[in-house]
Order: sequence, then structure tokens, then C-alpha cells
Amino acid sequence: MTSLSLQGKSAIVTGGASGIGGAITKVFVARGARVVVVDLQEEAGEVLSRELGDAVVFLKGDVSDRAVADSAVAAAVEHFGSLDVLVNNASVSRQKPFEEQTDDDWDLAMNTGLYATRNFMLAALPELRKTGNASVINFGSGAGLNGQPNQASYAAAKEAIRGLSRVAANEWAPHNIRVNVVCPMALTAGVAQWAEARPEQYAQSAAMVPLGRFGDPDRDVAPIVAFLAGDDAQYMTGQTVMADGGSVKLR
Ligand SMILES: NC(=O)c1ccc[n+]([C@@H]2O[C@H](COP(=O)([O-])OP(=O)(O)OC[C@H]3O[C@@H](n4cnc5c(N)ncnc54)[C@H](O)[C@@H]3O)[C@@H](O)[C@H]2O)c1
Repeated sequence: MTSLSLQGKSAIVTGGASGIGGAITKVFVARGARVVVVDLQEEAGEVLSRELGDAVVFLKGDVSDRAVADSAVAAAVEHFGSLDVLVNNASVSRQKPFEEQTDDDWDLAMNTGLYATRNFMLAALPELRKTGNASVINFGSGAGLNGQPNQASYAAAKEAIRGLSRVAANEWAPHNIRVNVVCPMALTAGVAQWAEARPEQYAQSAAMVPLGRFGDPDRDVAPIVAFLAGDDAQYMTGQTVMADGGSVKLR
């Protein structure tokens, strides 16, 4: 098996039809994995399925819905025979000052971020245990680490995901299930919307990237996720990996 190969692995990628998730789906398939893509965007999911063929099964669903997590795991087992990798990438939030964020805003960030991550991890656990060599990759954000203004609910959900991931890394290590977090920075449709709504914040973020550019989902972020998914990262767990051009340096 060549280095960085994902040959024979079966994965779930939430929000895997577009943005960073779409890039992850493509690199996983290019490296030999088969992927259940869970996403709300039916058209993007079907385009990806056509492009990538039998290596992708698209499941239209909302990650906030616990039953969708169960269906995704069942689809991986039915189509690919096992589940080795779970990528909790999807999440949505609304950006406003803390005091203006409503219960509904908090529910959106928590349900699509923290609770979706928890529910997919729990739904996947029995299958991940069976493989004896599994990887979970959750998504955090520099917004949580830096305390980005207007992102209270999102930052709270993302930091909670990091805490949960560290606990699961310890609890699931005896089953050889690794749990790591990626904090990306990449120019996706979601970020483009944010850049349009808050151009000053976007310009400031891009200017502060040491490597001098906002990341590219395909070239800059997805390969880092693929590394964590594969056996080259077999001695890494409980870590937060910054895929952000050096913007945040964790110690
Ligand atoms: N892009 C960045 O710079 C950046 C920075 C920090 C963190 N992140 C995190 O990286 C991850 C991906 O970000 P992105 O920029 O690619 O996002 P995006 O908004 O561009 O794409 C998200 C994908 O998830 C899907 N999705 C959204 N809500 C869903 C739901 N409820 N159920 C199922 N699918 C849903 C969308 O249809 C889309 O395909 C997110 O967790 C995000 O918080 C991104």
C-alpha cells in the first residue's frame, strides 16, 4: 500500500457535497476510499455522485436529525461493508453580536455543530469498533480559538467539539479509534457569503495569514484531513490540527 493511501477504507463525510466537505470527498475517493456523503444539497450531491461513480453514495439529510446519522452508518455498511472513517464537517451558524443572538441562532449552531458531531460519533461507534483501526475527524474553528466577534454561538459549539473530541480520544483509544480536530481556513461558498456580509473582517483575516492567502479547500485543507484519516496518522489522537496557513499556533 502506498503512503497516504485510503485504499479499502469506508467513510462518512457530513456536508460532503460542497465546500471543504466536497474537497474531502474528492480526495478520499482519489486515494481509494468509498464515501457516504450526507448533505442537504441534493443537486450538488448528485453531481458529485455522477462524477465519482460507485465510490460515492449520496444521502440527502440534515445532520441535526439523529435518524440521519443512523441512516448514514447503515448506508456505509450496506454499500461498503464497514465504516472506518467519520468526518463531521457540516455546520451552520448566524453571525451577529452575542447580545443579538437568539435561542434559534444558538440552536442552529449547536444542533448542526455540537449535537450533530455527537450523534454521528455515537451512531458510528459500533462499526468503528469493529474495524479495530478507525479515525474520526471533527471540525473546529479559529473563530472559537480567537474569539472572533459576532460568532458567539458558533465559537461555543466549535470549542465544545474540541473538548468532546479530547474526551473521546481518551475513551476510544483502547479500540484504536483516533479522534482529531481540524480547524481550517479556506475560501468556500460559505466563507464567500461571510466575506460579502463582513468585508472588513474578511480582509483582516486574509491579511493576517502568515502564508499570505486564504486556503484552497482542495489543495490546502482536504489533504490534511486525508492524512488524519489514513494509517500514516496512526499515532495521532486527541489533537487539534490547524489547516490555516499558520494563522493560529497552538501550544
Ligand atoms: N471555510 C473556512 O474558512 C472555515 C473556517 C473555520 C471552520 N470551518 C469549518 O469547516 C467546515 C466546512 O466549512 P465550509 O466553509 O466548507 O462550509 P460550507 O458552508 O461552504 O459547506 C458546508 C456543507 O455542509 C452542508 N450542510 C450545511 N448544513 C447542513 C445540514 N444541516 N445538514 C447536512 N449538510 C449541511 C452544505 O450544504 C455544504 O455542502 C464547517 O464545520 C466550518 O464551520 C470553515
